[in-house]
Amino acid sequence: MDKEKIKKRIEELRKLIEYHNYRYYVLDSPEISDEEYDKLFKELVELEEKYPEFKSDVSPTRRVGAPPLKEFKTIKHTIPMLSLDNAFNDEDLINFEKRIKRIVGDIEINYVVEPKFDGLSISLLYRNGELEYGATRGNGVEGEDVTLNLKTIKTIPLTIENPPPLIEVRGEVIMFKKDFEELNKIREENDEPLFANPRNAAAGSVRQLDSKITKERKLHFFAYYISRVEGIEFKKHSDVLKYLEEKRFKVPPDYSIVNGIKKAIEKCIWYQNRRNEYPFDMDGSVIKVNDLNYHKILGETTHAPRWAIAYKFPAEEKETIVRDIIVQVGRTGKLTPVAILDPVFLSGSTVSRATLHNEDEIKRLGIKIFDHVIVRKAGSVIPEIVTVLKEKRTGNEKDFSFPENCPVCGEEVIRLSDEVDYRCTNASCPAQIKGRILHFVSRDAMDIENIGESLVDQLVDKKIVKDIADLFYLEFKDLINLERMGEKLANKILKNIQNAKDRPLSRVLYGLGIFHVGKHIAQLLTKRYKDIEDFYSLKPEDYMEIEGIGPEIAQSLYLFFKEDKNIKLIEKLKNAGVNLKEKEEELEKEGPLKGKKIIFTGSLETMLRKEAEELLKNSGGEVASTISKNIDYVVVGKDPGSKLDKAKKLNLKIINEDDFIEMIKGEKG
Ligand code: IVH
Repeated sequence: MDKEKIKKRIEELRKLIEYHNYRYYVLDSPEISDEEYDKLFKELVELEEKYPEFKSDVSPTRRVGAPPLKEFKTIKHTIPMLSLDNAFNDEDLINFEKRIKRIVGDIEINYVVEPKFDGLSISLLYRNGELEYGATRGNGVEGEDVTLNLKTIKTIPLTIENPPPLIEVRGEVIMFKKDFEELNKIREENDEPLFANPRNAAAGSVRQLDSKITKERKLHFFAYYISRVEGIEFKKHSDVLKYLEEKRFKVPPDYSIVNGIKKAIEKCIWYQNRRNEYPFDMDGSVIKVNDLNYHKILGETTHAPRWAIAYKFPAEEKETIVRDIIVQVGRTGKLTPVAILDPVFLSGSTVSRATLHNEDEIKRLGIKIFDHVIVRKAGSVIPEIVTVLKEKRTGNEKDFSFPENCPVCGEEVIRLSDEVDYRCTNASCPAQIKGRILHFVSRDAMDIENIGESLVDQLVDKKIVKDIADLFYLEFKDLINLERMGEKLANKILKNIQNAKDRPLSRVLYGLGIFHVGKHIAQLLTKRYKDIEDFYSLKPEDYMEIEGIGPEIAQSLYLFFKEDKNIKLIEKLKNAGVNLKEKEEELEKEGPLKGKKIIFTGSLETMLRKEAEELLKNSGGEVASTISKNIDYVVVGKDPGSKLDKAKKLNLKIINEDDFIEMIKGEKG
């Protein structure tokens, strides 16, 4: 074959393969068998290998994943990626239309109503029909270059036929509910940390540095907006969706065009009633003005367009039955009652247990074993029981009473007069040991992968490990005979433990599980004191000199380092070769908001201020309490205080709650 013919065949194969990808992944209707597809693919791979001069970055063979990156590059969005204002009821939506009519006049408005996807928003830039890059939203102005990862997602076209010179497509990468459940099942079997919901799983799969991992995750992309296009004048948003569909993107399913806000509300309710029938998590619907002329007239605020609004569905609630109430013992000895439920799928994951917090909460709910209850997810993550359906009682329900002895070790439990919790008084209680080990290896502490609950259970029950330091003395022979263990996994675990010896001191300090010492406090401590031995002689007042450390924390630290057995444990870690000195460059916490100072003002809609601050700290950021020019972002909630005015005067970057959530979404995995 001459070169020209080969080039033609390569181009033909690329088109064919992308067409069959489209049939399979977007339309769900393949035309050829897997074998036929594989044959075409193989032919292309071979030709590209033989004739490297015809290689292309947008060939379907490039969807395979590339070597891991060290870090993501930053991409400045050519047009900021905005978020949406939220509406929670009809009134909010009616007001939305009133605002629009005040600007464009009292005429009938057409809307498009679409599902609101709960994933990771992405911007894709195509130049001359070829995907140039794909970026996350980041802070709206700048995002991360995740092109290599996105290329592994088959519903993202690598090329566009008959393209405009430039087009920027926006949409959401999501994971379907069943794929999320499957992924978590596998992670559980491998003792890997679980994702809280499909959104985090999707975000974690895109925002990690190894595109081979992204490729293994089943992800989908839905396009819902064109932020920039050259050479085409769209008149309506519905035309945009049609165009995107023609260009082989997946678009919001069942979207419709309606007249007036009343009909738009009806369609929102329509989606709400069917949210469980969709394969993906839907946390609301989006109403967009259809006429694009109005988009120009209406414009946008600093963070959201005035021509669109998100209607948030109320937290999903489901009925189920309490099969049992058990009591768990945590690493501090705290006893937590937990309701065991008939499994129900709720806001993105299967729920089979709900915390009952403490004895007072059980009394407040008046809950009994075999009760019918309504469950929902608090802050969209932790399942809780909202009400007990007492009218459904049959008389067979069983009362629950709090145990007087620890259900794990049998020792006495106490409830201090000023506490709501019962505690097991035995520090050698296996449940406490297990809890301390799981905390020590957790992602934010020593981050030792493949050590999960089932392994720790075995290690402690068989008395192979009695404290956290014993982990560093584990040998191959200790592991190999355990359940669900193979040679490969045993070696991997030993290697992970070995690697963890070099973690920064702040992680060790946090991992020790000292009462009141969270990740953030551990970092404050190691900014001042660089060697664990420095702590041995500190008095509570020394700790309190550090800004952010109050008397309670100071006392707890003081008591911890006064205790002989704790010093012995630290010595045991040291003898195993665990790093106990802080190195300068390791002070800052890893995370998407590493080193960023953020201040909050006003009340947040989806979480408590305390939760937001905790999330921020966990993402490597710092909570600021007073406005100054050193602040990176000001998160503004409802009814902001005077901080907002000051922030505006100082020209600080102002973001809303959604922007903030988007920024912290990054999850390892
Ligand atoms: S339109 C200029 N449509 O929700 C506004 N956004 O909570 C472009 N989202 O940041 C956004 N589904 O990431 C639009 N059908 C949909 C959406 C959607 C989900 C996301 C988007 C946005 C966030 C706001």
